[in-house]
Amino acid sequence: MATLALEPTVCNIDTNVAAIEKWVDYTVLPDFARMRAAGPVHHCPESGYGPYWSIVGHREIMEAEGHPEIFSSSWDKGGITIADRDNVQNPADEPPLPMFIAMDRPQHTGQRRTVAPAFTPAEMVRQAADIRRRTSELLDSLPVGETFDWVDKVSIELTTGMLALLFDFPWEDRRLLTKWSDWATDFESVVDPERNKQRWEILYECVGYFTNLWNERKDKEPRPDLISMLIHSDATRDMTPQEYLGNLVLLIVGGNDTTRNSMSGAIMAQNLHPANWQGMMANPERIPNGVAELLRWQTPLAHMRRTAVQDSEIGGRLIRAGDKVVLWYLSANRDESVFRDADVFDPLRENARRHLSFGFGIHRCVGARLAELQLNVLLEEMQKRRMTVELAGKVERVHSSFVHGYREMPVVMRRG
Ligand code: HEM
Repeated sequence: MATLALEPTVCNIDTNVAAIEKWVDYTVLPDFARMRAAGPVHHCPESGYGPYWSIVGHREIMEAEGHPEIFSSSWDKGGITIADRDNVQNPADEPPLPMFIAMDRPQHTGQRRTVAPAFTPAEMVRQAADIRRRTSELLDSLPVGETFDWVDKVSIELTTGMLALLFDFPWEDRRLLTKWSDWATDFESVVDPERNKQRWEILYECVGYFTNLWNERKDKEPRPDLISMLIHSDATRDMTPQEYLGNLVLLIVGGNDTTRNSMSGAIMAQNLHPANWQGMMANPERIPNGVAELLRWQTPLAHMRRTAVQDSEIGGRLIRAGDKVVLWYLSANRDESVFRDADVFDPLRENARRHLSFGFGIHRCVGARLAELQLNVLLEEMQKRRMTVELAGKVERVHSSFVHGYREMPVVMRRG
């Protein structure tokens, strides 16, 4: 990371892997493979998101994330996704959305510490029985031999219910969390001012709802829900309304889209790699490693973004202060120098846990244990019921280079 006397490298392959059509048609994996073969770091001089660097190598992403003092996450420099305020058509209509994933030290440290107690091993033990009960009841309620949408009936229902419990959110309104999460990460709004206006109206509805919950709880004794934790911590009790909204969006999206798309990814893995899936189901002791492999194979968030704050070298390329740098986890998790036959879902993969789906370094996912717990329970309960879930129609993907997952997945479930 030290030497700066570098040859500029000319790129002769299409490096705009963020082009939305590549994610809609899902042609992006071969592009990443070509880029990795040519080198771990590439520059894209022009795109709908302006010029940006792509880091596609596993080692180089860890290197960048290991230097948060060089590669900033801060929202005022551009934040953590490739799309930023400079990319929307009317930046004045795009209020800033500060959240601690998009902050640097020292502010990040205090705010992360505030919510971390919700995800300790002891909390996971406290949550486990309830997660198992909700998962079992849901699986038992699914129709056998009839087509239904796995995303809606299973992935959304389980993750939204989990989030409602974490916030102690009114149960009957829990689907609002799904709606807010989907709109918060809506990448199509970047290029469509009308849609973006609607997006902000919906996000203000979210902050209105949560402000009521805040006011109801602010004079009560501390409790183990996330809102109460934010109220009773020195690092967060005086947040501005924008910061409150930002951190809510972070926790809602963090706990929602990601785990949801891992649960849907499990069905894709089962259908695309049936022998490996069945091997795991016949030997349930393989499930914990299978969960790590599922997270690698699916990679529910395709990227995080950083902004360089000083000139530096990475993967033999000179990155200048101010440059936008995109860390493509989806590519790192298929880096053949780390993962052999990387496109294959293999629950016996020895180094599955080296995946970067939760990121690396000071921002590594604070909810990782909870996500793994939910996935373990889902797979174990499917195994107990000898469930097979076959795709039964066209799978529609999320139109985004950030959330890497599925909008709709028609399936038919059978029991062995
Ligand atoms: C399979 C599920 C999940 C995946 C793939 C995932 C992925 C990620 C990634 C990639 C990051 C950024 C890491 C980095 O920049 O190095 C992150 C951060 C974060 N995640 Fe998750 N996440 C998942 C589940 C959850 C859950 C269940 C929650 C909470 C309910 C959560 C809350 C957060 C928060 C608050 C951060 C910010 C951490 C920080 O900046 O220090 N995530 N997650």
